[in-house]
Amino acid sequence: MKQVRVDLGERSYPVLVGHGARHSLGSVVPAGPKKAAVVTQEAVGVLVETGLEQRTFCIAGGEEAKSMSSVEDLCRGFAGFGLTRADLVVGVGGGVVTDVAGFAAAVYHRGVRVAHVATTLLGQIDAAIGGKTGVNLPEGKNLVGAFWQPVAVICDTEVLSSLPPREYRSGLGEMAKYAFLGVPDLPELELDEAVARCVELKASIVSADERETASLAGQGATSDSGRALLNYGHTLAHALETVGQYDLRHGEAVAVGLVYAARLARRLGRIGDDRVEQHARVVSAYDLPSRLPAGADPVELVAVMGRDKKVTGGGLTFVLDGPSGLEVVRGVAVEAALSTLAELK
Ligand code: GLY
Repeated sequence: MKQVRVDLGERSYPVLVGHGARHSLGSVVPAGPKKAAVVTQEAVGVLVETGLEQRTFCIAGGEEAKSMSSVEDLCRGFAGFGLTRADLVVGVGGGVVTDVAGFAAAVYHRGVRVAHVATTLLGQIDAAIGGKTGVNLPEGKNLVGAFWQPVAVICDTEVLSSLPPREYRSGLGEMAKYAFLGVPDLPELELDEAVARCVELKASIVSADERETASLAGQGATSDSGRALLNYGHTLAHALETVGQYDLRHGEAVAVGLVYAARLARRLGRIGDDRVEQHARVVSAYDLPSRLPAGADPVELVAVMGRDKKVTGGGLTFVLDGPSGLEVVRGVAVEAALSTLAELK
């Protein structure tokens, strides 16, 4: 079993990574709680044992579960179960579950402790780590939420073998991102090691910029970009997901977004051909797409990218590779963004 620490002073916590790690949940349950509310989805099918009096609460399947009404239902369920401020919520599932369970924990009784058992690759290397929680509104994704750090995260790599192949591959899209954030030779590592190295990198970024404030100020390139770097490849990915008519999973959209970001960086003179080819190689090593889906309209995508929540000044904002590595770059000309999209059709 590998253990990574997310260092946040008195709110630091361990992340356990390994085959069968879910069986160690009891060992990371903090002292004090008498009851545990286990939040999951029917389809997850992963049983956990907290060693406490526990009750399971199932939220709906899919992204639709990321709603204010799920949070209300959960909080009412917690109250019916008699969950107190001293007790524990445990999220067991992928990003939807840990986002919703984490947010319900953040607001129930003004905050109760939460632990996550991440059961998807994407959840293990991204969503469950770092305390971002939240739900969607009809007006947009993740518009309501809170930073609420868990007390522990379990990444059980055994359960990944029962994921639908496409779900697993989608997680590889997030993993590809870490190859450019600084985990060397990622596609060559065995699974437990690869997950642990991604978690380690995310933990170090979160420790340094927990609330993603480092990149808020300034114009042009921001060298101390902090947590915003985790959005590498995500500006186009979010636009593809927002337009919504393409058959793309999140990680697949991120894969296209990574290749796009590399080509855009080359267009802006920030990197050379070799680095662009490296992006294409990693994405193809994971058998992920690197082209826009058929019918994608660059003008529509650029319009949506211009409304991305990471835009804090004029022009388009991207995380881009460059001579000093990845940075948040603001004020990217619409023309450059459009022409680069055209290359990926
Ligand atoms: N998923 C991006 C972050 O946790 O900041």
